Amino acid sequence: MYKNRIRLPELEQKIMSAQEAARMFETGMTVGMSGFTKAGDCKALPRALAERAEREGLKLTLITGASLGNNSDGLMADAGLLARRLPFQADAVLRGKINAGEVMFIDQHLSETVEQLRCHNLAPIDIAVIEAVAITEDGAIVPSTSVGNSASFVEQAGLVIVELNLGMPLALEGLHDIYVPGARPLRQPIPIVAPDQRVGCAAIPVGPGRIAAIVITDSADSPSTILPPDDETQAIAHHIVAFLSGEVRAGRLTPALLPLQAGIGSIANAVLHGLLDSPFSGMTMYSEVLQDSAFELLDSGQLTFASASSITLSETMHRKFLDQVDRYRSRLVLRPQEISNHPEVLRRLGIIAINTALEFDIYGNVNSTHVGGTHMMNGIGGSGDFARNAHLSIFVSKSVAKQGAISSVVPMAAHVDHTEHDVDVVATEWGLADLRGLAPRERAGLIIERCAHPDYRAALRDYFRQACARGGQTPHVLEAALSWHVHYREKQSMRA
Ligand code: COA
Repeated sequence: MYKNRIRLPELEQKIMSAQEAARMFETGMTVGMSGFTKAGDCKALPRALAERAEREGLKLTLITGASLGNNSDGLMADAGLLARRLPFQADAVLRGKINAGEVMFIDQHLSETVEQLRCHNLAPIDIAVIEAVAITEDGAIVPSTSVGNSASFVEQAGLVIVELNLGMPLALEGLHDIYVPGARPLRQPIPIVAPDQRVGCAAIPVGPGRIAAIVITDSADSPSTILPPDDETQAIAHHIVAFLSGEVRAGRLTPALLPLQAGIGSIANAVLHGLLDSPFSGMTMYSEVLQDSAFELLDSGQLTFASASSITLSETMHRKFLDQVDRYRSRLVLRPQEISNHPEVLRRLGIIAINTALEFDIYGNVNSTHVGGTHMMNGIGGSGDFARNAHLSIFVSKSVAKQGAISSVVPMAAHVDHTEHDVDVVATEWGLADLRGLAPRERAGLIIERCAHPDYRAALRDYFRQACARGGQTPHVLEAALSWHVHYREKQSMRA
């Protein structure tokens, strides 16, 4: 029955139920699971482990590529399974437990997790659980819609459990390029000099002896929940296209631009969607996630190649992609997130990185993670990997949130993920501020006048004037710098 999926017949004896496989786990273990922004996540073990947590109080440290789908993070958090979770999540229930201090969450650059494991800065992986579309004749695992950290989890784990998903088409085989950097101090350069280059093998080597269990599943990835472009996100896209057109006119970019990266979420997806109506052609992507807009650009022919670590799509686009994988095969590659986000490769290729801010301040410091400065939203994800090493690091945001009660442009960011040193351009629906080559005092005027919502501009000008009277390279009125956030906490509005 599984002959074309389990190509080593002796492995068929390892098939068991998720409940049987879940018995291999003990409290205190560190588990590495596949899954990256809802794509290629394990579907059965999270539920079986949550049941054990409810019955027996099982507690684990869970490391994944990024967020999981199928409500798995929420179910596991609700059952009390997660003592510690890293490096990213995007689930409302888990978010609540993190912010209540019940789950210890380590918010980490996505390229760094396996490096930290490799050099023993983190506890070793006891069990890896990986979703696969097939196990090859040599016992190698063919991943599904993401690669994430799976290759390194498998390399480092004591035991490997495979979730063989019969619902994922075998056509996915061949899309992946598995390359794991060698050990230090004699590590070689990663030999990627163009987004379409393949430098590794098509499946994750494991060796049949290390596969402890195979669990059969057939559930789909959860669809992404991004919202369609609206007037504001279209206006942001328009500013970005105009800015990039200016770069082409100035001779700093060609019409093919440089390889693009776009972050997760509705805003970044809408910005990329805006490139459909642009003069650019022959574009490529070297990103970590491909959302719907990347496939729209592949379909339009403007995007010639896309490299990423996962494919996270709406239900309609997901179905279309899985039915027509062969149409995209020669124009897609999925890599380990350590490689899709690797500083060495990003700096070499010269990425145009477009990520989303919750808020940024008048000097260009960006908060992408902490609502009100204290409460975790999702995590930094790969935004820091890309922003720090990009040719152009662009951050976008709507100018206000919560029906205008929150200004996304504030005197001082209440938490900083991306410092002013890593931010070249910021944009909202009102306009774009090109911060390159500007000192903090020059940036402030531009950010206030171009990006802030008109309702908040006068107050920001006033703050900046008072701050300059105090002096400094980056002037602030320290006792008032976070007063907007305090005002919001007390009055549910930043308006004075
Ligand atoms: N203060 C409080 N809440 C804010 C806010 C602010 N300054 N700015 C936005 N929000 C809220 C929105 O109101 C919305 O809330 P809701 O879910 O209750 O409606 C939520 O944040 C998401 O904002 P939205 O405008 O829908 O944007 P998005 O879907 O594009 O997500 C981020 C924006 C910042 C949350 C998301 O991009 C993210 O998690 N980024 C960090 C990780 C990252 O950049 N990875 C990139 C590499 S893949």
